[in-house]
Amino acid sequence: MRAIVVQKFGATPELADVPVPEPGAGEVQVALDAAGVNPFDLKMADGILEGKMPTDFPMILGVDGAGTVSAIGSGVSKFKVGDKVVGKFLTAPAGHGSWAQYATVPEDATLVPIPDGVTSVAAAALPIAGVTAQDLVDAAGIQPDQTVLIIGATGGVGSFLVQLANIAGAHVIATARADATDQVARLGASETVDYTQIRPADPNFVDPDPATYKDTSVTDAVRFTHPDGIDVLFDLVSAPGDFATHATLVKRGGHAYSTTWAADEEDLKSRDITGGNFQSKGSSAELSRLLSRVAAGDVVVPVQMTVPLEAAPAVLGQGSARGKTVLAI
Ligand SMILES: NC(=O)c1ccc[n+]([C@@H]2O[C@H](COP(=O)([O-])OP(=O)(O)OC[C@H]3O[C@@H](n4cnc5c(N)ncnc54)[C@H](OP(=O)(O)O)[C@@H]3O)[C@@H](O)[C@H]2O)c1
Repeated sequence: MRAIVVQKFGATPELADVPVPEPGAGEVQVALDAAGVNPFDLKMADGILEGKMPTDFPMILGVDGAGTVSAIGSGVSKFKVGDKVVGKFLTAPAGHGSWAQYATVPEDATLVPIPDGVTSVAAAALPIAGVTAQDLVDAAGIQPDQTVLIIGATGGVGSFLVQLANIAGAHVIATARADATDQVARLGASETVDYTQIRPADPNFVDPDPATYKDTSVTDAVRFTHPDGIDVLFDLVSAPGDFATHATLVKRGGHAYSTTWAADEEDLKSRDITGGNFQSKGSSAELSRLLSRVAAGDVVVPVQMTVPLEAAPAVLGQGSARGKTVLAI
């Protein structure tokens, strides 16, 4: 079968012909129609799991995948051949991912039925990014009329997070380059800040150090329109220095989360701010909840582009995401 693999950590991803995996006891084989692309895929190829999870090589990349159950191993009771399913194709040993025509996964892994009306392309866009956004909103316990700042709002996680924070009743401030302002506004942002513009909102603002100007501009622009601060910060992109600057906007008693391990949790605690470095734990129950919201039309799936499986190496780590990229298999 066709699959996108790396031969070792750090190698260039490539199209390969590999054996079709057979389902073992308790496992489900899925004929994949679509697979999501996430920043984590490149991190996996580069070796983020080295020493943390046993890995088989050639390592088939891809975590998010959707398709049809094509075979089941002995003892499988939750799924039958023909079921439309979506899930996360990452269990130990790693290396048997979703960027392939077939993948196997234990039936107890994150794997759920796709409801009627949701396409496999839309479903494949949800597991990592959508569930992370839902987990973040749940963790912050957003209350109506709270002010929420999302840094990195235009990408995979962000484009779900804008919607879910808006649905929770928040006033959403989203970072977006000029070309993406309309998109995040349609998804539910009340305000946007273009982080690439050197455009301090406060006419009296003078940055003493041009090297820090860009970041100061986002913080300053938000402080100018919200001088009392914000209730929740979701920072999906920043390194520690920028995260710390953004977190100065959060009121005492508020929440601040980093998905890039950039938070100084002791510093947040000392200012009575809850949150810190966030790891999404969402699995089957959370994925099903999100799929129900998509099926009901409450959440849209912002698919930026769908490309063939063979194009995966070209789109991996491309940057400047506007929603999700999905591989058609
Ligand atoms: N901890 C967890 O559980 C977890 C779960 C999911 C994802 N993550 C991590 O969270 C991060 C975001 O994931 P993702 O899927 O949303 O990534 P993505 O789809 O690549 O989106 C990132 C977005 O941020 C924008 N951006 C880049 N630099 C920015 C800056 N300085 N200020 C504001 N926006 C900026 C990018 O567009 P422009 O460059 O055009 O502005 C892009 O739209 C990744 O590092 C991912 O690995 C962690």
